[in-house]
Amino acid sequence: MTGPVAIYGAGGHARVLASILHQLKLPILGYFDDSFDGPEIIQGAPILGQFGDIVKYREKASSAVLAIGDNALREKAFNFLQQEGFSMPPLIHPSAIVESDVTIGEGTVICIGATVGTEVRIGNGVILNSGSLVDHECHISNFVHLAPKAAIAGRASIGRKTFIGINASIANNIKVGEEVTIGAGSIVLRNVPERTKVLGVYS
Ligand SMILES: CC(C)(COP(=O)(O)OP(=O)(O)OC[C@H]1O[C@@H](n2cnc3c(N)ncnc32)[C@H](O)[C@@H]1OP(=O)(O)O)[C@@H](O)C(=O)NCCC(=O)NCCS
Repeated sequence: MTGPVAIYGAGGHARVLASILHQLKLPILGYFDDSFDGPEIIQGAPILGQFGDIVKYREKASSAVLAIGDNALREKAFNFLQQEGFSMPPLIHPSAIVESDVTIGEGTVICIGATVGTEVRIGNGVILNSGSLVDHECHISNFVHLAPKAAIAGRASIGRKTFIGINASIANNIKVGEEVTIGAGSIVLRNVPERTKVLGVYS
């Protein structure tokens, strides 16, 4: 990734991404968000307009990053930006520990202190939030969000658009389906069917 980078979103996650871009010494073009109602500076860069206004900056932005925590909205944003011709290289905080053989899709963000083990495959538009852990040979599908300190043991797979809450743990070899919500601090010891909500110990 070179710069300047457009940040698609201007909420809390946008600040996290801006901080990663600062760490990487990449210039920020500005932010786009429908909550825009006048000039505002976030971490040294301006909000330039609503989401749709980003297309006016296609020539100026070398790439875009997805600052949207909600999985379904992030998928929509990814598809829109891809259709509009924006490149979305993965964004990785320099403190993250990522094995060299990991594959990482477009629009994916790996935040401060996250750890990713050998032979992990990570799809598009994934968020591995602060201090999360994905151990060896896991498969993380498109538009998954691991909240801070969520941990996934080896050879587990996580389905599309699944959310795993803060400090939740998934045991090794477990398959978590699509669009699942795993509540904060939950412990998952057996496979989870798609569109399920897990709260507490799931065994
Ligand atoms: C699961 C979650 C999304 C809430 O779902 P919800 O359907 O809105 O649940 P509610 O808040 O209405 O709570 C319903 C019940 O589940 C319980 N519950 C909620 N979350 C729980 C959790 N993580 N573990 C155990 N029980 C939980 C509530 O106490 C409540 O119990 P009650 O019916 O006995 O009062 C939310 O609790 C959660 O864990 N969010 C993750 C937060 C997070 O990780 N943030 C980081 C973002 S980067």
